[in-house]
Amino acid sequence: MLKSINCGAVRAEHAGQTVTLAGWVNRRRDHGGLIFIDLRDRDGIVQVVFNEQENPDAFKIAQGAKPEYVLQIKGAVRARSAEMINRNIASGEIEIVAQSIRVLNESKTPPVPTTDDVPTTDENMRLRYRFLDLRRPKLQRNLLLRHQILMFIRNYLTQRGFVEIETPLLFKSTPEGAREFLVPSRLQPGKFYALPQSPQQLKQLLMVAGMERYFQIARCMRDEASRADRQPEFTQLDMEISFVEREDVLQLIETMFTQLVETVAPDKRFVQKPWPRFTYAEAIERFGDDKFDIRFGMELQNVTALAKGAGFRVFDDAEQVKAIVVPGCAHYSRKQLDELTNYVKDFGAKGLAYAAVLETEVRSSFGKLIAPEKMQAILSALGAKTGDLALFVADKPVIVATALGRLRVEMADRLKMRDEKLLGFCWVIDFPLFKWNDEDHRFEPSHHIFTSPLPEDIPLLDTEPAKARGAQYDLVCNNYEVGGGSIRIHERALQEKLFDLISMPRDVAKDRFGHMLEAFEYGTPPHGGIAPGIDRLTMVLAGEPNLREVMAFPKTQNFADLFLGAPSTVTQQQLDELKIKLVVEE
Ligand code: AMO
Ligand code: AMP
Repeated sequence: MLKSINCGAVRAEHAGQTVTLAGWVNRRRDHGGLIFIDLRDRDGIVQVVFNEQENPDAFKIAQGAKPEYVLQIKGAVRARSAEMINRNIASGEIEIVAQSIRVLNESKTPPVPTTDDVPTTDENMRLRYRFLDLRRPKLQRNLLLRHQILMFIRNYLTQRGFVEIETPLLFKSTPEGAREFLVPSRLQPGKFYALPQSPQQLKQLLMVAGMERYFQIARCMRDEASRADRQPEFTQLDMEISFVEREDVLQLIETMFTQLVETVAPDKRFVQKPWPRFTYAEAIERFGDDKFDIRFGMELQNVTALAKGAGFRVFDDAEQVKAIVVPGCAHYSRKQLDELTNYVKDFGAKGLAYAAVLETEVRSSFGKLIAPEKMQAILSALGAKTGDLALFVADKPVIVATALGRLRVEMADRLKMRDEKLLGFCWVIDFPLFKWNDEDHRFEPSHHIFTSPLPEDIPLLDTEPAKARGAQYDLVCNNYEVGGGSIRIHERALQEKLFDLISMPRDVAKDRFGHMLEAFEYGTPPHGGIAPGIDRLTMVLAGEPNLREVMAFPKTQNFADLFLGAPSTVTQQQLDELKIKLVVEE
């Protein structure tokens, strides 16, 4: 090894020893006859001192060292005097007195910061130079955390009889949900593989095969709009278990993740343990969304009955009126209220009505239009106190839910109510099995087509399918959907009925999913599973707002890798081999 110890690992106990270090120049400071170099490796930083008098040769080389040069330094560990101790770095009680120095490699001036203390540059620049960006300690910590999460999961599940099984990436096109990435076949021109959106069908087939307890750290590919919490290529902890009921899956994940957090992120606390459960209807009613944040209150309250018929046209005409009560914001100015109004308009609301409870009066956008007693009745129903600002949206329930749900989170951010140390894990259950697709005039699965209805709701499939609930569950934490899963259908007849209900012609169903239908005829055990997103889980545990901060080589908004230059054009010869003719010219 070119080093005897890591830079970040040298401590007071090493004082007096001679060590060999290798790493990158984080910073160099010249103080006349003294040069200080902060040498950095993955473990951290250590300060090295070069003294012109004592060691002129080393001093001369150190003079030429620039940021990000790779150096090998041999020196003695010296305890610092009390007043020189640097509490900001773990090795701050000591420094290295250089004896010799060797430049292992030079570096051009990096076009992006490699340290965390510099304001971050444009993200496209960071991604263009990802190999340098990844030198930042914060990103290295995130990747390390991700590794610890994966190691914990692999050990935990292995100890409990789970087997990790790889499934193919060259899969069959079975369009459903998100758009697929296609891969042309060279040996069978005109035919395509699809990259899996998840190993859903394969893991179910492994249950038919009798593997009973499967997991996989699985790569999934979806050609869908990229967002802060969505990447075209991501990783799931994919799991499937035979002979389970919903409760078994929920317990398994809750116990595993509780221990996981205690192990890899011991500074975090759960908002509630055991994790609370909400039905889908309750989640929409109270938070306006099926992914939400329980780290703070300000829940949506329904005041339709009181607000309608009071004389304010906006409320009178609306199907639903709901409000949130924001503490301590009664003083909000006209300008601030206008900002909030514009905010909810982005989510389809036509406006935002308010009532601010001041010491002596109520200041409200509809105060003059309704009787004072009515105003008092609404405010007391909302539990609004002096200093509070009640914000109302009146509209169709979907718009009220979306606009107020988003406003709730926006206000929590403004008021810094989202405690980074808290984890608001919870379960959402009892989703409707189908959602109505207004464009295509048909039902579509609200999770996926292999999800079983709740047993007691199976009769509803013949009478009121819209009312049937699915045996599915979502894991939610801090406003993100961290995982989703379900108990599956394991009988051919019920599976075919579901295809019928989503208006998929039998021949199409057979063409796309015939392999599943066939397998269900050969002793398929009852089974169920779940797939927590590893990227989202890491993001939540790292307290990052963006998946790109917890992935080594993420893609940009339009799916580009700016460093590799992917996607890229290919040669005519490659296209000819695939029998592909391009329609679009460059
Ligand atoms: P689902 O589609 O809900 O379920 O995905 C499960 C989890 O995967 C993560 N996830 C993503 N993470 C980053 N970028 C994306 N584009 C992305 N899409 C999904 C989320 C999500 O909760 N086969 C089923 C699971 C099952 O039923 O067992 C499935 O894929 O954390
Ligand atoms: P208008 O009658 O459109 O001038 O609106 C009067 C007040 O009601 C303004 O403060 C609007 O922001 C608010 N408002 C309008 N439409 C809605 C709505 N659908 N929900 C809540 N407030 C609204």
